[in-house]
Amino acid sequence: NKASNSLKDAFKKDFLIGTALNNLQIEEKDPTVNSLIKQQFNAATPENIMKSALIHPKWDTYDFKLADKMVEYGQKNNIKINGHTLVWHSQLPNFIRGIKSSDSIRTFFTEHIKTVAGRYKGKVFSWDVVNEALNEDGTLRNSVFLKNLGEGYIAEAFKLTQEASPNTELYYNDYNNEQPAKRAGCIKIIKKIKESGARIDGVGIQGHWHLGKVPLKDIEESIIEYSALGMKVMFTELDIEVLQRNFQGADVSQRMANSPEMNPYTNGLPEEVQKQLADDYEALFKLFLKHKDKISRVTFWGVNDGDSWLNNWPVRGRTNYPLLFDRNNQPKPAFYKVVGLKN
Ligand code: G3I
Repeated sequence: NKASNSLKDAFKKDFLIGTALNNLQIEEKDPTVNSLIKQQFNAATPENIMKSALIHPKWDTYDFKLADKMVEYGQKNNIKINGHTLVWHSQLPNFIRGIKSSDSIRTFFTEHIKTVAGRYKGKVFSWDVVNEALNEDGTLRNSVFLKNLGEGYIAEAFKLTQEASPNTELYYNDYNNEQPAKRAGCIKIIKKIKESGARIDGVGIQGHWHLGKVPLKDIEESIIEYSALGMKVMFTELDIEVLQRNFQGADVSQRMANSPEMNPYTNGLPEEVQKQLADDYEALFKLFLKHKDKISRVTFWGVNDGDSWLNNWPVRGRTNYPLLFDRNNQPKPAFYKVVGLKN
C-alpha cells in the first residue's frame, strides 16, 4: 500500500474529512494554506461568516459576499460545504437586542431561515440548522428563541429549512453532547423533531476536547445511540486543547493569559506533550474507524494551530496547539499517527 500524506485520501472510503475555514482562507489570501486545504480536505464549514451577526447585520440587510465565495470555493475544489449555522443564541445581530415583541422575534427567525437557507438551496451540502440549544444537564438553554418561541422552535427551524432547501442534509450540532445528561437531551430533541413530522439527518458532536482527557467511552456510546435513531454521526469542530483550562474562579485577565502558568509552551511543544497529543488523536481515529459505518464526517476546527480559536479563548494571546498542522502548515506527529492508521 502506498503511504498517503493526505487525510482526505487516507479516509476516502470511511468518512469525509473537513476543516473550518476563516475569512482569509475563503478569500485565498495565503497560497500555502490554500494548497494545504485542497490537498487535505473534502469538506468545510465556515468558521464565522454564515452566522447571523455576519450574514444578517441589519433587519433588512444581508451580506452574502463571503458566504457566496465560500460556496464557490467549495464547488471549485470539490469540497462539500456545511452551512453553519441558522439558529444559535450566540453571534446574533445587534439589532436583536432592540426587538421587544415575541412576534418580531418570530418574524426574524422565519425570515432569516427562509432567506439564508433559500439562497444556498442546492449549493450547500448540509446545514447545522440549530446549534447549542442544550444546557449541560440536558434541559433546553434559555435562549432568546426558547423564551419567545417556546420549545417547538427547534422542530420549526428544521421544517423551515427543509422547505427552503429540500435536498440539503439537516443537522443538530452541540458540544459535550457525548456526555450522558446532555446526550439524553439531544436524543429528546431528535425524537421531538421526528414526531413533529420534520426531517433530521444527523447529529454533530463538536469535539472540543482536552489533552489526556478525550472521553472515548462516552463518544463510543454516543455514536451507537445516535446512530440507532437513524442519525448520521459527525464530529464537527474537532480540536484537542493542549493548555489546561482550570480557570474556574481564576483571574482570567489578559495578564493571566500571558503568564507562564496559562501559556506554558510559547516556545513550542515539549516532546512528551507532542506525543500525548499524537496518542490522543490516534485513539480517537481508531474509534472512528471502528464505527466508520455510522460516521459520515470528521471536521477539524481550523487548518493549523495558528488559526485556532483556542489561541483567543477565554482571553486573547494564548499559544495553543490543538490541531494536526503547526503554525507553518507542517504536519505534526499527530498527523502521521492519524494517516498511519490507513497506511
Ligand atoms: O473579526 C473581528 C475583528 O474585526 C476584530 O478586530 C476582533 C477583535 O475583537 O474580533 C474579530 O471577531 C472575532 C471572530 O471570532 C473572528 O476572529 C470575534 O471577536 C470572536 O468572538 C469570534 O470567535 C468565534 C466564536 O465562535 C464566537 O463565538 C471563533 O472564531 C469561532 O471559532 C467560534 O466557533 C464556535 C462555533 O461556531 C460553535 N461551537 C463553538 C466554537 C468555538 O467557540
